[in-house]
Amino acid sequence: MRMGFWEMKAALDWQVEMGADEAIAEAPIDRYALEAPVPKAAAPAVPGVVALQEVDAVGLATTAAEAAADLAGLEAAMAAFELCELKQGARQLVFADGRADARVMIIGEAPGRDEDLQGKPFVGRAGQLLDLMFRQIGMARDAQDAQSALYITNVLPWRPPQNRDPEPEEMAMMLPFLHRHIALVNPDILVAMGNHACQALLGRKGITRLRGAWGEAVGKPVLPMFHPAYLLRSPMAKRDAWADLLSLQARLRGDT
Ligand code: URA
Repeated sequence: MRMGFWEMKAALDWQVEMGADEAIAEAPIDRYALEAPVPKAAAPAVPGVVALQEVDAVGLATTAAEAAADLAGLEAAMAAFELCELKQGARQLVFADGRADARVMIIGEAPGRDEDLQGKPFVGRAGQLLDLMFRQIGMARDAQDAQSALYITNVLPWRPPQNRDPEPEEMAMMLPFLHRHIALVNPDILVAMGNHACQALLGRKGITRLRGAWGEAVGKPVLPMFHPAYLLRSPMAKRDAWADLLSLQARLRGDT
């Protein structure tokens, strides 16, 4: 079986964990006869080498994100951010799609295979359903006017391997970029698609209870909705999604 990047990394991490510190030794080492290894945190510092656990990824992300003056600057800052391991396994950064002057900003979870290939969010099957859903209330990412336009992005800009769930550390280190993204687009309303977007924006999971209940994040109203990928698996839930779309439409019209 040919190993992929993540399998090779896991195998290497395991060997390091077991005490391997060089690829080939001159002579066999009896590791049972060696002293117990010093715990990582207490290991003496090697000049010029910064232990990974000492890097404040969230702090560095915050500094980089806040320095971005516009969306192009933010995209460049994210592309240059090296501390999220997802970047290694992804083909490219998936930044956003739609109109930056849209009233509604949709926030999904992370790119999947199609998005990783095309470099745009929500272009696979779930994305096609998302487009269809919003078209029912007259909104689209390629709308002619800002009033009916959508702007779409994700909590994470790189595809997780095998579409696994995002890790809390990955979400935490990319959150400053998402907050800056929202500030630069400055939409009237945020739509949080699924559990991970709710976790990132509202600090809560449990989409079955959260959906349809307006919340607030970074000073903006947030509407949690079922993720379209979930709707593909559970078509019965489309009824709730339709109710949420109507709620969004009413809010945009100023009826609520
Ligand atoms: N699912 C997401 O959450 N985002 C995408 O861009 C595609 C699928």
